[in-house]
Amino acid sequence: MADFLSAYSVQQWLESAPQGYLIDTEYGHPPGEKEPAVVLGDPLLREQAIRTTVQLVVGERCALSASSGLINAAPDEGSKRFLATQTLDEARHTEVFTQRLHDLGVAKADLESTIRRYANPNLVKFAEVLLEKVDKKDFVSGVVGQNIVLEGMAFSVFEMMQSLNGSINPKFAHTLSGTIADERRHVGFGENRIGSLIKDHPEKKPEVERLQKEMSYYMLATFADAFRGNPAAAEMDQLGRGNMHAEWHGVDLATMTPEAMENVLADTVLKDFKMRLGRIGIDYQTPVRP
Ligand SMILES: [Fe+2]
Ligand SMILES: [Fe+2]
Repeated sequence: MADFLSAYSVQQWLESAPQGYLIDTEYGHPPGEKEPAVVLGDPLLREQAIRTTVQLVVGERCALSASSGLINAAPDEGSKRFLATQTLDEARHTEVFTQRLHDLGVAKADLESTIRRYANPNLVKFAEVLLEKVDKKDFVSGVVGQNIVLEGMAFSVFEMMQSLNGSINPKFAHTLSGTIADERRHVGFGENRIGSLIKDHPEKKPEVERLQKEMSYYMLATFADAFRGNPAAAEMDQLGRGNMHAEWHGVDLATMTPEAMENVLADTVLKDFKMRLGRIGIDYQTPVRP
């Protein structure tokens, strides 16, 4: 527990994030960086960027509600303090992605209606399933749902977007890299803290396994909508990718079809769930494929 406490302490957080990789950033990127003119100048590319960013805001708002809600459900002081640092991380993520919507031209007055218009219903359902556990102060299910399922998903989605944007949109890629560093800490906490709790409460396993299966289904359905349900956007996205190379998990995203991208993302996230859940003594449940 001593190592656990120092690795996830407020002091460690201050040194590594605000005084470390976030130093001298402004809304998550070096000051002065802007969205590329090609995105701002093309209505379809701009709409696609708004649609994508709305999903990030929806996911991060869920993480903000979940991490703050879990503070009072946590059984020990070390976890409460870590979740307080996570709460601030999630508030920051919500803010930087909201700022990106404004940078893409969404007026302050139109923010909530834009989010309602573009939010993927399957992602909204994914969030509801998790927040129901948090509302019941179910710490074990809440941490597995948040720090393993939601953040495992976010981690891979952000990494994929970072590879895709590295050469065409450094501002967005920089915002993502700070967020990825935060998410890496959050998934680490989930695994380290929850393993011993599962051992102490084996009776929670079936419920946690059902939660993982249900959330995984809504995640896959969200991916399906993003890659399959929107052919015009996918086409524009291909154009935006142009001649670049975007290496991720041994494949070149720049030359892949949307279907192939969906498959590599889904497989990466599910493999990751299986590995992390195995380490905390939970049997991974294969979700229904939408
Ligand atoms: Fe986050
Ligand atoms: Fe997070």
